[in-house]
Amino acid sequence: MLFQSIILAATAAISASALPTVTVAQTTFGLITIHSGSEVQNAGVQAARGSLLVNAKSQNASCDVETNFATFYIQDEELHLYAASATPQTIFVDRSGMGQGKIGYVTGAEPLGKNWETVGWSVDETSGLVFDGTGLQACPGSIDGAWSLWLAGVDTPGFNQNCTGVKAREIETTEPISCVYTQ
Ligand SMILES: *[C@@H]1O[C@H](CO)[C@@H](O)[C@H](O)[C@H]1NC(C)=O
Ligand SMILES: *[C@@H]1O[C@H](CO)[C@@H](O)[C@H](O)[C@H]1NC(C)=O
Repeated sequence: MLFQSIILAATAAISASALPTVTVAQTTFGLITIHSGSEVQNAGVQAARGSLLVNAKSQNASCDVETNFATFYIQDEELHLYAASATPQTIFVDRSGMGQGKIGYVTGAEPLGKNWETVGWSVDETSGLVFDGTGLQACPGSIDGAWSLWLAGVDTPGFNQNCTGVKAREIETTEPISCVYTQ
C-alpha cells in the first residue's frame, strides 16, 4: 500500500510538473461579416496592407494553400493572424480620437503606434468577435473595391462614409492555412 501510494504521488508530481510545457493547440478560426441585406453579408474577412477587409478581389497573401480569407487565433486576449512558422502578425485597435476605431496589424517586431492596443479581444456568446465588448463595422470605398473593418462607435471613422454595423462571426477551423499577409 505504501509502495503504491509513493508511486501514485510520484506520478502525480511528474504530471503536475509536465503541465506547463504541454502546448495546447490554439483554436483557429476565420471570420465572416453578418449584416443581412447588405453587400457585406456573409463576406469572408481578409487581411491585406495592414488592414482587415472584406470583398477584396484578392488579399494577395503568401499562403501554404491558396485562400482569399484570413485565419486568426486569440492568445491571452490578443488576436493574431495564423502562421505556422513565420513572424507573427498581430491585430491592433486605436480607440483614440485620432484613431476612431481603426483596426490594423503589425508584423513581428514592428512597433505599435501611440494609442494602439492589442489586448482585449474575445469571442462573445453569440460567436461575434469583440474588442473590450465592442463589435465591428464595415466601410465601403477601400482598396480594390473592398470594405475596411473598424471598431463600431464612430459614424464616419477615418472620414469613411456609409459604414454599416456588422457582426464578425467566428467560423472555427481545424485545418488552418498558414499565410504571411501584406504589410
Ligand atoms: C492585389 O494585387 C492586385 C495586383 O497587383 C492589385 O491590383 C490589388 O489592389 C491588390 N489587392 C490588395 C487588397 O492589396
Ligand atoms: C455614400 O452614400 C452616398 C449616398 O448614397 C453616395 O453618394 C456616396 O458615393 C457613398 N460613398 C461611399 C464611399 O460609398
